[in-house]
Amino acid sequence: MTLHIGAKTDDIADVVLMPGDPYRAKWVAETFLTDARCINNVRGMLGFTGTWQGHRVTVQGSGMGMPSMSIYANELIRDFDVQTLIRIGSCGAMQNTIALRDIIIAMTATTYASPSSSIFRDLNFSPCADFSLLSAAAQAAASLQVGVHVGGIYSSDTFYDERPDLNEAMMRHGILGVEMEAAELYTLAARYGRRALAVMTVSDHLLTKEALPADQRERSFADMVHLALRAAFE
Ligand code: ADE
Repeated sequence: MTLHIGAKTDDIADVVLMPGDPYRAKWVAETFLTDARCINNVRGMLGFTGTWQGHRVTVQGSGMGMPSMSIYANELIRDFDVQTLIRIGSCGAMQNTIALRDIIIAMTATTYASPSSSIFRDLNFSPCADFSLLSAAAQAAASLQVGVHVGGIYSSDTFYDERPDLNEAMMRHGILGVEMEAAELYTLAARYGRRALAVMTVSDHLLTKEALPADQRERSFADMVHLALRAAFE
């Protein structure tokens, strides 16, 4: 047991999917896993362990933002020895070639400030995805009906009062979308020698200002979970 995860060491699988929303973790467990049981409810940040096609998997909520992701990813890696961590979340699109419900697979994640920023000071560390997970996800994506984009994303530390100048700079440099967790996950995976990937469905669009109503997010979320599971066990 750790401060934020009330599970025994054996309760957590080597592969962990991490949605931001704990209720998404419950939905993923109920929809995709066999024999899933709740292994964490500290602070309502639900976690479940079950099996998918015979493989043991944990789904653990990360909460929103890099400080929260840092807490759960640190404890999963350092205390539970998790080897593979895959963020499954949503993001805002930053390019006109991307539509609502499309899936973005993050090759790298740029950030302005994360819990790890103080380590690097003036250095621009480039947090990147694990290549084996990235290529497996890209291959699995070929069979999907939705648009899939592989490239860089921006991990912001704010949702409201964001910096329009930074958003504009990101768009001008081909960044595909904005979310709030991947850069810290990739940095921690690099620090501890683990595999990490972030896949996101597009829930809103910074250029067209469209947004997907909450009740319409499920279908694209399901495609993304499939993609993540196939990448993890390829
Ligand atoms: N997650 C989903 N949409 C987002 C946005 N527009 N900015 C930051 N995080 C997001």
